[in-house]
Amino acid sequence: SIASSDFLRHVESMAQLPYGAGKMSHLNAVILGEALATEENDPVFPSPDFSAQALISSPQQYMNMYKRSVEDPAGFWSDIASSFYWKKKWNPMVYLENLDVKKGTIKIEWFKEGTTNICYNALDRHIEAGRGDKIAIYWEGNEPDQDGKLTYTELLAKVCQLANYLKHVGVRKGDAVIIYLPMLMELPIAMLACARIGAVHSVVFAGFSADSLAQRIMDCKPKIVLTCNAVCRGSKVILLKDIVDSALVECTKNGCSVGLCLTFENQSALSRGATKWQDGRDVWWQNVVEKFPNKCEVEWVDSEDPLFLLYTSGSTGKPKGVLHTTGGYMVYTATTFKYAFDYKAPDIYWCTADCGWITGHSYVTYGPLLNGATVIVFEGAPNHPSPGRCWDIVDKYKVTIFYTAPTLVRSLMREGNEFVTRYSRKSLRVLGSVGEPINPSAWRWFYNVVGNGQCPISDTWWQTETGGFMITPLPGAWPQKPGSATLPFFGVEPVLVDEKGVEIDGECSGYLCIKKSWPGAFRTLYGDHERYETTYFKPFPGYYFSGDGCSRDKDGYYWLTGRVDDVINVSGHRIGTAEVESALVSHPHCAEAAVVGVEHEVKGQGIYAFVTLVEGVPYSEELRKCLILTVRNQIGAFAAPDKIHWAPGLPKTRSGKIMRRILRKIAARQLDELGDTSTLADPSVVEQLIALTDK
Ligand code: WTA
Repeated sequence: SIASSDFLRHVESMAQLPYGAGKMSHLNAVILGEALATEENDPVFPSPDFSAQALISSPQQYMNMYKRSVEDPAGFWSDIASSFYWKKKWNPMVYLENLDVKKGTIKIEWFKEGTTNICYNALDRHIEAGRGDKIAIYWEGNEPDQDGKLTYTELLAKVCQLANYLKHVGVRKGDAVIIYLPMLMELPIAMLACARIGAVHSVVFAGFSADSLAQRIMDCKPKIVLTCNAVCRGSKVILLKDIVDSALVECTKNGCSVGLCLTFENQSALSRGATKWQDGRDVWWQNVVEKFPNKCEVEWVDSEDPLFLLYTSGSTGKPKGVLHTTGGYMVYTATTFKYAFDYKAPDIYWCTADCGWITGHSYVTYGPLLNGATVIVFEGAPNHPSPGRCWDIVDKYKVTIFYTAPTLVRSLMREGNEFVTRYSRKSLRVLGSVGEPINPSAWRWFYNVVGNGQCPISDTWWQTETGGFMITPLPGAWPQKPGSATLPFFGVEPVLVDEKGVEIDGECSGYLCIKKSWPGAFRTLYGDHERYETTYFKPFPGYYFSGDGCSRDKDGYYWLTGRVDDVINVSGHRIGTAEVESALVSHPHCAEAAVVGVEHEVKGQGIYAFVTLVEGVPYSEELRKCLILTVRNQIGAFAAPDKIHWAPGLPKTRSGKIMRRILRKIAARQLDELGDTSTLADPSVVEQLIALTDK
């Protein structure tokens, strides 16, 4: 732990951060590159070397930009937007918003009447600037010897061929296209091809079941579905085309027929001959697309024309079709990518998310390509053929920015350090985390072991709805605290409100809301503007409500505590499941934990904790007591779990999200109400859990 003069200088400037009532609370700071983060929750300061090369190199620089972004959003964002190509400039208003249900319909518009095209800005613009030979995509398959690459020029040619094919089969501006593909290069190609002709893509994560796919198809009624015959995931082969077939049968039964299914032949997984086929409806991608010209005129669209629909689950009912439009989303994803990862042209960037989720939309495809970055698209599983695969890929491509989810960090952490340390990883300079709060012990492992104490971690808080990062560290600008997403991005005005929707200031906890619109905000739920208003704007009139709980510390740092629907109320105490989990996994023998509320006779709700253990550690009565004691010690006796349920694995989606819905049912012994388990990465986990229910 170091307290240098640089540190003191930083602490001084901290006082000027938003809500920064004073100096950093901890004086035991760690400086990037000079020491590892210890067990205390010490802040980690950027080193002078890192800061000197960073885009935002001091708290003061951040403050100046932040101040302007909220005092003059129109000026701030139109300056940034001007660096993109617009066929026609937006009207002078820049933006128009109403976030207050009491004042009428909720409305958000940015750069209205400006015409542009996001595909043009992501590809042609770089090529015209002479950067066409730069690698746009490195593709890495399921097996380490499967790979490929495309330069910007090659990528554009592929996008244009597909765009021409889509036009040829009658897809027009505004038409929906469903994309059900794994992480092949064809997935971003398909997204960009739609964008090029003004069609609205809706990517459905290729781990969704036929029923879920059918539901989405029936909601947006596409002219065509793009898919592939099969995909390998680890050692399994999944027949994606069969899933599409069943979904399309289901749709036809419900009066929604899709006439065309363009199928990419993924030879490494399955040959053509072995693929079920319906003549007339099914077409092999490779048979037709390559015959089309590799140049395709751009369809110039209004900034507020829809770019894509992405279905996300609500707390109840059918999935919500989150709708994003073109101009604001373009400017926002590009800008957040650049600053939150301190992106520079030589960087090699890898985000482990699948394009089936918002992270893959904004930070595999659009954000990076809009910056002219080199992106890795990885089709396989991060633990195949061994838990060292990620670091093998990092070394193979000399990855400099690595962006992943806490759940992956924790599951790799569980395998032991040797799988990490046997690889060099010396190319890495920035790490990122997304999807859930990252518990401090996983943060430290990521920082110390993966990053060797050399890489800042951008813990980015955002949502499908927000389009891009909302609260995120800017590496090099200010100290980080393990587990905190730190401070708001430019133009974002987060507020914490109480039960009644009243803003609370200073050091406090509350519901996280956003006060003003930002360019990347979603504009509606497809076909259901009323649900949009009810879910997000009615709970706290005047604000966008995120659905997350959050606290702010005395330095002004934000600490996300999880969905408020995941908050447990035990004897009148509100306990974030994430808090209890973080405590449990801080025990050296606990690898992962998932906590849910269960009905409790006396306390209202009790805490039910599923835990997985570090490889090789047996579960015992002694360990159970130890885990409970750890929680008592870290949070308080009221937070001690009522039940520890030892689990060999937790039910997760392919993107790594723990399916709490299923855990709640198991905890409540409602075993006949488990619902759809088909999207789990490994559905057999559920049976194992049930078998262990009373152990
Ligand atoms: C959670 C994923 C804490 C949060 C981009 C949010 C996070 C939900 C973080 C959105 C983070 C995402 N720290 N919580 N860094 N990132 N979340 O729509 O609860 O799949 O509301 O978007 O994930 O999930 P979504």
